[in-house]
Amino acid sequence: MPSDTAPVAVVTGANKGIGREVVRRLAERGFVVHLGSRDQQRGRAAEGVLRADGLDVRFLHLDVTDETSVALAAKRVADETGPLRVLVNNAGIGLAEQAPSQTSAEQVRHVYDTNVFGVVTVTNAFLPLLRRADSARIVNVSSSLGSLAAAAANEDPSGVFPPGRFPTLLAYGTSKAALNAVTLTYANELRGTNILVNAVSPGFVATDINGHNGVLDVEQGARIPVLLATLDDDGPTATFLGEDGTPGGQVLPW
Ligand SMILES: NC(=O)c1ccc[n+]([C@@H]2O[C@H](COP(=O)([O-])OP(=O)(O)OC[C@H]3O[C@@H](n4cnc5c(N)ncnc54)[C@H](OP(=O)(O)O)[C@@H]3O)[C@@H](O)[C@H]2O)c1
Repeated sequence: MPSDTAPVAVVTGANKGIGREVVRRLAERGFVVHLGSRDQQRGRAAEGVLRADGLDVRFLHLDVTDETSVALAAKRVADETGPLRVLVNNAGIGLAEQAPSQTSAEQVRHVYDTNVFGVVTVTNAFLPLLRRADSARIVNVSSSLGSLAAAAANEDPSGVFPPGRFPTLLAYGTSKAALNAVTLTYANELRGTNILVNAVSPGFVATDINGHNGVLDVEQGARIPVLLATLDDDGPTATFLGEDGTPGGQVLPW
């Protein structure tokens, strides 16, 4: 069991999928990990699985779209474990591929509430705790589908979609493009401080978000998020890394 001085991490949307695996990996490295979940039952179930393996994982009720829930979560972490070493903004939702012309503004707004505004709410709520750590990392779980360079070239850099067919996911793709911009904005504000801020595309991972059509498993999908969460102090900030099987990942174009 980690000591009182063990580093502390918060992972949002961690009751399943990539987030839960990131929790496992960080806890295996000695972190106390707060497992964020908007649903108490699902969160407690995931906590139980990981604690049964001897890991210091603590369910944290956290709905990224609910400011009160986020504020209470930040207070609980402050009261219970103090300074925060790692924040992984992992919670995300998707929307089936459909033509932009068939997508309503309301559908786009709904996805942005979680994938963009949720990240801003959570990051601002936890920043005071991150600033209190000796050094800290923010990892935003984005997607290669958020790359504007890839969209402009009409090529998916992860190679999942055929050449010349960058997917027309208006809500999801542009929410991740906005998240990338959010990442750079925080990284620039926090340059020269103790906090490194980076984005990651975990790869095409078989999870609920894509009906388990992904080609990677969650262990593979968690690899680069964990790498960014555990960067040394001289590690990069304002980078966008993807999964390509190499130890350091693949630098993706914004
Ligand atoms: N899988 C891929 O191929 C892939 C590729 C690129 C990027 N990503 C990104 O990776 C991240 C994790 O996705 P995943 O593949 O692991 O999908 P997933 O299994 O569907 O997990 C998504 C998680 O986000 C949570 N969530 C959704 N809305 C939330 C909210 N308002 N507050 C708190 N949590 C919320 C979900 O909770 P519930 O169980 O309550 O719904 C779930 O725990 C997402 O940001 C996704 O966009 C995934």
